[in-house]
Amino acid sequence: MKRTVTTLQKQKNEGKKISMLTCYDYTTACLVEAAGVDTVLIGDSLGMTMLGYDDTLPVTMEDMIHHTRAVSRALKDTFLIADMPFLSYQTSTYDAVVNAGRLVKEGHAQAVKLEGGAKVCEQIEAITRADIPVVAHLGLTPQSVNAFGGFKVQGKNVDQAKQILEDALAIEKAGAFMVVLECVPEKLATLITEKLSIPTIGIGAGAGCDGQVLVYQDMLGMFNGIQPKFVKQFAQIGKEMKEAFSAYDAAVKNGEFPQKEHTFAIDDDVIKAIS
Ligand code: KIV
Repeated sequence: MKRTVTTLQKQKNEGKKISMLTCYDYTTACLVEAAGVDTVLIGDSLGMTMLGYDDTLPVTMEDMIHHTRAVSRALKDTFLIADMPFLSYQTSTYDAVVNAGRLVKEGHAQAVKLEGGAKVCEQIEAITRADIPVVAHLGLTPQSVNAFGGFKVQGKNVDQAKQILEDALAIEKAGAFMVVLECVPEKLATLITEKLSIPTIGIGAGAGCDGQVLVYQDMLGMFNGIQPKFVKQFAQIGKEMKEAFSAYDAAVKNGEFPQKEHTFAIDDDVIKAIS
């Protein structure tokens, strides 16, 4: 069944959890679609996972469109959300609408996601007025990493918790149809989920949210480095890939690969004629 803003809202209303995974390429998107995941996010985390940057700040509109378009070719039923990269919407409502429009027109996204609360409500209103559904993102918003002084849990004291709750109410009023809550305490995320009528999607925000999102390389165990506390590894694909790469390397070097069955035959007469 094709997921839409309406079916996702219905899932919240009926208490049915929403699954979301990041995705950045066609091959992975085919597998995510086949698995029946509800929504795919072309996160600007691709700056780190696919392009090797330290954070999401260098990611461009061209990067986002390139990866969004690739994923869109694989999806039939899965809902496709694309991130608006740093400085593609903060600068003006005009930039916000033009760049959101590009993600839809050129990337084939069904919705866009942007980071921030009250301070981006004008942009959310303008983009939704252009009939582009908007997902908001609150809590640890990675594009603000320099302002936060690092990747830290948000909303632990009264002032911060109040601010995040007020931001959540503001983005809903501005027209956002969904909100991602990243790295906020479970009880705060649960309270926000109860107060909002739109779905909340948590990442490091506990089980009280209406749905969950993870970066796919994290949940597949593709990185060896330090994992955030909220990541559960559902497989050890990184280890398997490395073992397969090593086996290939050894097989090429010791002549075990390729074998006869991996080659194409030709008539000896042809070879004789050109020798
Ligand atoms: O960029 C991203 O992948 C995200 C998720 C972590 C929510 O914003």
